[in-house]
Amino acid sequence: MNKNTKTAIGLMSGTSMDAIDAALVRIDDDFNFEFIKGHSLKYPSEVRQKLLEIANNKATTSDICFMDFVCAKLFARCALELITKNGLQAGDIDYIASHGQTVFHIPEDKTISNITAKSTLQIANISTISELTGITTIGDFRSKDIAAGGQGAPLVPFADELIFKKDKNRAIQNIGGIGNVTVLSKDCETFAFDTGPGNMLIDGAVKKLFDLPFDKDGQIAAKGKIDEKFLNELLDEDYYKKFPPKTTGRELFNDDYLMRVLQKAPENKYDTIATLTALSAGTIVDSYKNFVLPKTTIDEIVIGGGGAYNKTLINLIKDYSKLPVKTHADFKIDDKFKEAIAFAMLGFCTLNHTPNNLPACTGASKRVIMGVVSYS
Ligand SMILES: Nc1ncnc2c1ncn2[C@@H]1O[C@H](COP(=O)(O)OP(=O)(O)O)[C@@H](O)[C@H]1O
Ligand SMILES: [Mg+2]
Repeated sequence: MNKNTKTAIGLMSGTSMDAIDAALVRIDDDFNFEFIKGHSLKYPSEVRQKLLEIANNKATTSDICFMDFVCAKLFARCALELITKNGLQAGDIDYIASHGQTVFHIPEDKTISNITAKSTLQIANISTISELTGITTIGDFRSKDIAAGGQGAPLVPFADELIFKKDKNRAIQNIGGIGNVTVLSKDCETFAFDTGPGNMLIDGAVKKLFDLPFDKDGQIAAKGKIDEKFLNELLDEDYYKKFPPKTTGRELFNDDYLMRVLQKAPENKYDTIATLTALSAGTIVDSYKNFVLPKTTIDEIVIGGGGAYNKTLINLIKDYSKLPVKTHADFKIDDKFKEAIAFAMLGFCTLNHTPNNLPACTGASKRVIMGVVSYS
């Protein structure tokens, strides 16, 4: 590694709102990086419940105000636990880069009093993380891209480019609450978009029908049959037809959406989970056919995020796409921590005053330096 090597912690919690993931990495000026260790802190159930209420637009302004600081305390705790776990001290860490917790994301223009804006809100107060850890903390990455006319998402493709290079044409498919793909190809500029639901609807239905947090290893879906009629109804959703750049979240695929979906579900609850799993796999592969293959071939798919552990989902993606399917683990990157690593890379750029958005992915009018710094 080169001289200017930093030791950093990336902090991430996605739309699943399952846990805060922290990645300890070393990174140098040429973006050579070493993933040292990861650590996850599960949200306490009451905290998760409150965050879901906020994301489902069922909470108060006071809840949002309070949870900004509650989340920050948990993000700081997660970082400190990772530091201790590795026999380090806060002084050994150069910076923390925190994505925060998205509670709302409005990627399309809205207008009030003739003022038009896209907007997004990530909580987990940056000043508090910095103060509690004693480490300079960078956060609020998405706002600057939105300010430059983008959707503020997706941001991880910047890291995907650096991690995977372009020696093959790849679809880097993250499956978190939402599915999102980064297309890395020799034939075109890197582009990315959200494919639709990843685990979000599966998680919600498994909670309602089985009172479990998620379908471990895809075992429930494996016991059911795909109901084609139900699947076709589910596929009738405008989002899937929209051309990229496009991003989505709980604003669309939320509890109300799930309730409407479950009203049309088959009687057999295993079939419901199997069909929702087929919906995630199907919309992922269809989006390649509709939006990727017209621009470039794909040599292989690389899955990441918690969905990588859902064997039924992965098998369906293999089956539908007829492409080789790998996971990040095949590239020696923990499937769970890739996004946290990505934010550590984005924060490195902020501190070095290097632009870190990809306008072809977000739709921004120009490259900008994303991230706001709270110094220790
Ligand atoms: N062993 C597993 N089997 C199936 N699904 C899993 C497993 N572990 C995690 N997941 C899924 O991954 C989700 C979390 O993925 P993650 O990448 O953290 O998403 P997000 O970025 O939205 O938080 C869980 O909600 C669950 O649906
Ligand atoms: Mg998560």
